[in-house]
Amino acid sequence: MSRFGIRNRLKKAMGLGQGPQIVRHELTYVLPNGTERKVQAEEHYSLLMAADAVGITISTGRRAGGTCPDGKCGLCRVEILDASGLSEQKDAEQQVIADHVAGTEHEGRPREPGPPAKPNTRLGCHTKIRGGGAKVLIPALFDPDSIVGE
Ligand code: FES
Repeated sequence: MSRFGIRNRLKKAMGLGQGPQIVRHELTYVLPNGTERKVQAEEHYSLLMAADAVGITISTGRRAGGTCPDGKCGLCRVEILDASGLSEQKDAEQQVIADHVAGTEHEGRPREPGPPAKPNTRLGCHTKIRGGGAKVLIPALFDPDSIVGE
């Protein structure tokens, strides 16, 4: 047995080295052009994080990746086609969507009113993956030109 084998056996005997099991669930993103992408997403990730992890940047505005600092920009909109395995919508998320639609000030700056929300509109950064089977339409991807000149 190599010294690494001994190390691993000792770690196992001491209950070390076995990190928490990562659970993944399959969900489907439908891109703006209609293409479907099946993704193995880590449980508890948001729809936004899971999409970013495979190179899909959800953005209906200037959001260029990651989550906005306060979770209130409302630019990570998606439309839920099948809500299987997704977290319930909370009041705070509904309020962010309403504020975006109304165009209320964000981060101390005025903003244009967003497009009307649909009954299945959710925010990618607020919606968490709890199980498999979801199908999520992404209405818009990040457009690098949207941040030029600002
Ligand atoms: S990234 Fe800003 S609300 Fe989701």
